[in-house]
Amino acid sequence: MSLTPTSRIALVTGASRGIGYATARALAKQGAHIIAVARTQGGLEELDDEIRKDGGSATLVPLNLTDFVGIARLGAALNDRHGKLDMLVGNAGIAGPSSPLGHIEPKQWTDVMAINVSANFQLIRCMEPLLRQSDAGRAVFVTSGAANKALAYLGPYAASKAALETLARVWAHETASTNIRVNLFNPGPIRTRMRASVFPGEDPMTLDTPEQAAEFILPMCAPNWTETGKFYDYPSRTLMSFREPA
Ligand SMILES: NC(=O)c1ccc[n+]([C@@H]2O[C@H](COP(=O)([O-])OP(=O)(O)OC[C@H]3O[C@@H](n4cnc5c(N)ncnc54)[C@H](OP(=O)(O)O)[C@@H]3O)[C@@H](O)[C@H]2O)c1
Repeated sequence: MSLTPTSRIALVTGASRGIGYATARALAKQGAHIIAVARTQGGLEELDDEIRKDGGSATLVPLNLTDFVGIARLGAALNDRHGKLDMLVGNAGIAGPSSPLGHIEPKQWTDVMAINVSANFQLIRCMEPLLRQSDAGRAVFVTSGAANKALAYLGPYAASKAALETLARVWAHETASTNIRVNLFNPGPIRTRMRASVFPGEDPMTLDTPEQAAEFILPMCAPNWTETGKFYDYPSRTLMSFREPA
């Protein structure tokens, strides 16, 4: 791994496939050193091979993000090695069960909340001090239209993404006077394993690729991105504000 003194460090969760993989690869092409987090070693190694072919570098972190101690350890390791973090892409997520609420087991609920919400809370706790050390700390969390559509039969997923959105907006308010910018990204329907698992009858070839969506996450990670507490809606290519309460 060769890092120049000017290397920007980007932590991407869910980097073993799908939108996280494409975002990690695209950020590496721009020169960032990637901290790639997911459980699947094979997917992370494939990413590492691609990044190396492109002339970039990555550190692979096989980690279950429900492991709070593991996230804290990662924060400590990043502090020791780099002393800062420039970008945090909170992308990892699971769809959970497709069932009416009354048919969902409590463990299915807690599993979705653990990865889609609580892991991002622990990332915020452990990474904020490192993002503050950057001259332009940027955080992007990947949400879903399910949050405000309150889609039937995807209750835990919809509720978890609504919670994630509020968490990110709270953090944006708390960090407004710092160098940290916090935003949300809604990819809409994208050709990934998660999408295929929820909509098995859909022709994946009708959907945009993770690479296409990732191109729109990149600007939100850049030092010259100034907005905070906003929501980028990829299907409509629109940056939106949340409705502020009266
Ligand atoms: N695709 C869509 O149409 C769509 C639409 C709206 C929102 N989204 C959001 O986009 C994000 C990425 O989804 P995707 O479609 O790219 O799905 P995907 O292909 O299934 O990828 C999900 C990623 O999350 C990681 N992950 C899941 N559980 C994890 C855990 N416990 N610990 C660590 N990593 C974990 C997976 O890695 P491992 O399994 O290797 O751990 C994988 O890298 C999600 O937040 C999803 O809600 C997707």
